[in-house]
Amino acid sequence: MKMNASLIAPTASTPLPSVGASALSIHHVSKTFPGGKGGPGTLALDDVSFDVRQGEFLLVIGPSGCGKSTLFNIIGGMLTEFSGEARVGDRIVRGNHPNIGMVFQEESTFPWRTARENVEFPLELRGVAAPERRAQSMHFLELVGLEGFENFYPAQLSGGMKARAALARTLAAQPAILLMDEPFGALDEQTRLLLGDQVIRIWKELQQTTLLITHNITEAVQLSDRVAVMSFRPGRIKRVIDIDLPRPRTSEMVSDDRFGHIVGMIWSDLREEAMRGLAASEQLGGASRAAKSTPTH
Ligand SMILES: Nc1ncnc2c1ncn2[C@@H]1O[C@H](COP(=O)(O)OP(=O)(O)O)[C@@H](O)[C@H]1O
Ligand SMILES: [Mg+2]
Repeated sequence: MKMNASLIAPTASTPLPSVGASALSIHHVSKTFPGGKGGPGTLALDDVSFDVRQGEFLLVIGPSGCGKSTLFNIIGGMLTEFSGEARVGDRIVRGNHPNIGMVFQEESTFPWRTARENVEFPLELRGVAAPERRAQSMHFLELVGLEGFENFYPAQLSGGMKARAALARTLAAQPAILLMDEPFGALDEQTRLLLGDQVIRIWKELQQTTLLITHNITEAVQLSDRVAVMSFRPGRIKRVIDIDLPRPRTSEMVSDDRFGHIVGMIWSDLREEAMRGLAASEQLGGASRAAKSTPTH
């Protein structure tokens, strides 16, 4: 995909600290995973280009298997074999770099550390002295609404609280760009909506450039400045939609007509891709069922 002017146009809804300044630039990125036993590889990303402004909240949505995590792993430096270019500020990124913080759906807190000790972890790595570490970790725990739970171990926290502890730990590292790969994917819809309110509050306070992956359209519209819809295999940016709903957008807004209209618009884009994804997985299921039922004698 060629660079699209609308991708870098400021949204009316969110005055940004330095409009036009690009925090992240993805330029013609493609990624093919090799196939097993000399079989055909998987083209996971196909010529993906977009820009993210300083302080912007960009949401990436697409059906399962469309390359969302692959894209984030490239940006986060966890995948180094790809073609094209990823820039953070004016630095070309390929491999580990300190300016990115990632939060995953998988359980990512350390079970042997309390919530506070989890959040202190990146500060320890940076050599921050103990009293300062304590003050900073408490600040980030308060920011995610976990004050009072600082001495609890992850096993003593609910799913939503664990997700927030993981977020606080990533925020404590003060990354220039925050990448969240379905951080609330395992949570129920109600908890997810309420956490959305919190994410918006944090994003507003820290003014951090944030990219979030979801397959939940409501979450997409509630949180973001723009939604990038990805196509199912090969992963391309199918369309970028400006979410020009006023902020603050609380979870109460989901019943608004305008909210519903935007959700409908994204769904019509996503539906086709989701159906292609479903057809592909059914084919795969059919093939493996057929293989299993093949008589071996
Ligand atoms: N390490 C890997 N090796 C081979 N194929 C992979 C690997 N990681 C992802 N893929 C394939 O690349 C495609 C995109 O995967 P992924 O980025 O995880 O999708 P999403 O996060 O959108 O669900 C899928 O077809 C997946 O099977
Ligand atoms: Mg994924």
